[in-house]
Parts: sequence; structure tokens; C-alpha cells
Amino acid sequence: MKQNNIAAVLAKHPLIPVVTIHAEAEIAPMMEKLFALEISCIEITLRTDYAMEAIRRIKEEYGHRISVGVGTVINTDQVDELLAIVPDFIVCPGLTTQLGKHLDASGMAFIPGVSTPSEIMHALENGWDVLKFFPAHLFGGLTALKTYGGVFPSVTFCPTGGIDGSTFDDYLALPNVISVGGSWMLK
Ligand code: 3PG
Repeated sequence: MKQNNIAAVLAKHPLIPVVTIHAEAEIAPMMEKLFALEISCIEITLRTDYAMEAIRRIKEEYGHRISVGVGTVINTDQVDELLAIVPDFIVCPGLTTQLGKHLDASGMAFIPGVSTPSEIMHALENGWDVLKFFPAHLFGGLTALKTYGGVFPSVTFCPTGGIDGSTFDDYLALPNVISVGGSWMLK
């Protein structure tokens, strides 16, 4: 299955709240907010010392209710560490062939990040066509995605970066957008 079936994971989750967690005390209120919004998915970034432990706890305690994703995955060591947790999906801000191949072999669903046409072509060369468009607001946003739809009709995107409550539905309305990610939902 391509990218370990990331398309099936994203198809269930049009909205992906992106969170950065610094301490255990942040988890319970955040999850309450998530459930109040009736969102059944979360992406926890690997940007703090506490992130791995937060992912472990959330997967253990809430994994039966939500899909738990890990974001900001930028190297193979992080992937190896995640093998003990098995998150539901992995999000990378960018793409290297080495990281992508490691993720492919890991069995975990993953979405590589791209922003430019050359990066999209790099992903396609490796057989990956479900891609995070990041940082969406800095690389042309909706206009870029419309253009990419014509140039790369086989590619499906999950735009992230600078999207908020007033723009997310414009992104979701595009035929080449499967999900939208961002931090606005849980702020
Ligand atoms: C991130 O990398 O932090 C996510 O893409 C979220 O971006 P946002 O805070 O602009 O929504």
C-alpha cells in the first residue's frame, strides 16, 4: 500500500489539529477541547522534550477514541523511536529519499512535506503522491494548490501552515485537497 495507506487515514480526518505539548498537565484539557469539537484526530509535533512521552500517553489513554499522529518527523532516528509507539500516522515537514524509504519500510502511514514543483516531482519519483503542502501560506496557498492540480493531477495534498477558521473550508473545497492541518483548532 502506498505510504502505508496514509490516504485511508486522512480520508477519515478532513481536519487535523496540530499541537505542541510541553508538559503532562496540558494533555487532559486539550483532549477535552478536542472531544468537544468532535474531532477524532490529533497531530503532536516532535518539537519539545516532552513530545515523545506525550505521544506515548495519548496513544495509550485515548488511542481507542482518536487517531494519533506525530508531526515534525525529520529524521530516521525519530522513526525508529516511534516504532515502539506505533502512531496512526506520521507527518514530515519536508522530504528526503532516505527518510521516505525508512518510513515506507516502517509500516507506519506517512505523509511527506513539499512546497515546490521540484519537491513534488521528487516525491512522485519515489511513488509518493499524498503530500503535505507546507508552509501553505508562504508558498502560494490556495492559488498554488489550484495550479498544482493542473500540473500534478495525480497528487493529493494536505495543506498546513497559516490556515485558520476563516480559510480552512476554501482549502477543503479544492478537489486535490484531502485534509487540512493547523493549530487554530486547539488554540
Ligand atoms: C505547524 O507546523 O506548526 C503546523 O503546520 C501548524 O501551522 P499553523 O500554526 O500555522 O496552523
